[in-house]
Amino acid sequence: MKKEKEIVMSGIRPTGFLHLGNYFGAIQNYVKMQEDYECYFMVADLHSLTTHPDTKELKANVHRVLAENIACGLDPEKVALYCQSHLYQTAELYLYLNMLAYKGELEKTPTFKDKVRQHPDNINAGLLTYPVLMAADILIHRAKYVPVGKDQEQHLEITRTYANRFNHRYEEVFPEPFAFNFNNELVKVPSLDGSGKMSKSENQMATIFLADEDDAIRKKIMKAKTDSGPTLNNSLKPDYIENLFLLMKLVSSSETVKLFEDKFDNCTIRYGDMKKQLAEDMVQFISPIRKRVNDILNDEAYLQKVMKQGAEKAIASAEATMQKVRNAMGLNYF
Ligand code: TYM
Repeated sequence: MKKEKEIVMSGIRPTGFLHLGNYFGAIQNYVKMQEDYECYFMVADLHSLTTHPDTKELKANVHRVLAENIACGLDPEKVALYCQSHLYQTAELYLYLNMLAYKGELEKTPTFKDKVRQHPDNINAGLLTYPVLMAADILIHRAKYVPVGKDQEQHLEITRTYANRFNHRYEEVFPEPFAFNFNNELVKVPSLDGSGKMSKSENQMATIFLADEDDAIRKKIMKAKTDSGPTLNNSLKPDYIENLFLLMKLVSSSETVKLFEDKFDNCTIRYGDMKKQLAEDMVQFISPIRKRVNDILNDEAYLQKVMKQGAEKAIASAEATMQKVRNAMGLNYF
């Protein structure tokens, strides 16, 4: 008998250009997982409404995220690549899960606290219940693995709490989903200014986007913070230098990384040379993706087809779960 594939789900908000963090935290794993798992990947357009109520740019941003996923190697024939708002069943599950979500817990979520700080004029209920919608996205496919970066870890913990609460209150419907990365450790791609992580909306000069032109990449890397170099052999690296090495490990060969590690250890490193090398390796990595994204974006009919086909696959999976959910809850009156 053919073994059933394990289920994988993840999503990305269409709130701006995708960057290296999205690639190494999420998309790289999507591409690897598409061969051996049943995969559901979506553009989280509803989540973006919690902080970006103006929808003028939304359609273009949704197209861009789809194109960026495909340009990075995701095959819409192998996975369900869809748009969150096309899966109406998610809204239904979100409503039911809201009854299992407590206000006090939601208010303590670190991502909620961050958003309150960033958007003090728009602390809406959607923002507070953001993790409930995310739990609905994941549980609607009864997913087991969720490839995400480190910043999403707590949302997965909350999702497991709701899955368990539902299973205990009604019937066993949901498996416990876990954040996933092939190397076990979840990834956090640091920003180039040595503080925080790369992000779609903050510190644009310290974030490398998949859409960045070659010269913009070079400029950003050459501006990254360094110092005059170590003076003692085998010193500890300051955070901002450690970050440069971390980025180098993502895009350069292991020989190149070793060369600069050795130079650091024996105090002969010249950060200008290191940054030049990193910039060229980064350009080599990003520019083919950027070119593919632009080609895909020119073919709107293709993107429409991808979204439609993705929605059909996702709806079939979601409807099967919702039948179980409604039965478990006793919402089956006919
Ligand atoms: P979002 O749109 O902020 O980010 C998309 C993915 O990119 C990862 N990521 C990073 N990884 C490493 N280093 C970074 N600097 C970095 N920045 C972003 C994120 O961890 C994420 O995997 N709430 C989610 C979207 C979402 C979702 C879901 C995810 C909605 N529903 C269901 C998984 C499952 C978010 O805002 O991701």
